[in-house]
Amino acid sequence: MNINFVLSMQYSTIESGGAPWPIQHHDPHDWTSPEYVSKWAEGQDPKEANRAAAFSLLADTIPFEKTAAIKILDMGAGYGALSKSLLERFPNATAICQDGSEEMAKLGRERMKPLAGRFEYVLCDFGKHGWSKLVSGPFEAIVSSIAIHNVGSPRIIRGIYEDAYTLVTPGGCFLNFDRSSPPWEDQMHWLRGAGFKDVQIFWRDENRAVFGGFK
Ligand SMILES: C[S@@+](CC[C@H](N)C(=O)[O-])C[C@H]1O[C@@H](n2cnc3c(N)ncnc32)[C@H](O)[C@@H]1O
Repeated sequence: MNINFVLSMQYSTIESGGAPWPIQHHDPHDWTSPEYVSKWAEGQDPKEANRAAAFSLLADTIPFEKTAAIKILDMGAGYGALSKSLLERFPNATAICQDGSEEMAKLGRERMKPLAGRFEYVLCDFGKHGWSKLVSGPFEAIVSSIAIHNVGSPRIIRGIYEDAYTLVTPGGCFLNFDRSSPPWEDQMHWLRGAGFKDVQIFWRDENRAVFGGFK
């Protein structure tokens, strides 16, 4: 078990108690547990089609030709659903799949075997200061799917966006597919504050959106 990862998530949850926006409650995640991760992945599999449109739009928003040899950072990559979708659409791209859970990384290495050589997992906690020095940037595209909201704390999410900005190449982008807590308007404000340009929502449904900006 990665005890630092667990402690950081607990810290974030405690700190988010004073958040000025409603917290979306769901069963507590235990991304360090093999049983929980395998159950979560099994539950997610039949729902993958529900996010195909968002993934496709996200891919089309990356401001590079599909043939470009871009380097992608997928934050909280999980078993690699978004990375896989992007690597298939950008056949010359490579990806760093960052996650705090060794169990998710194990599952991702297994599930993405056909893409071996084009991705690498980096285990670190993006809720903890210094995470950005552990991934070998810069990146043409930083992306994330249903992961950053787990941090809970506005202050930490804002810091994550500031760190992400330092990792993006000029002309590159940060695109986040995530839930509405914290509210997207707040998150877009933090992205603008971090330095990103043309920050906007590119796609949304009732409770999820693809939002981000460019450098
Ligand atoms: C809901 S899953 C989403 C996984 C994947 N992005 C997807 O869309 O299928 C959330 C993922 O974020 C990771 N995660 C949550 N908090 C994290 C943190 N503070 N640092 C790194 N990874 C984190 C979890 O380990 C998990 O793999």
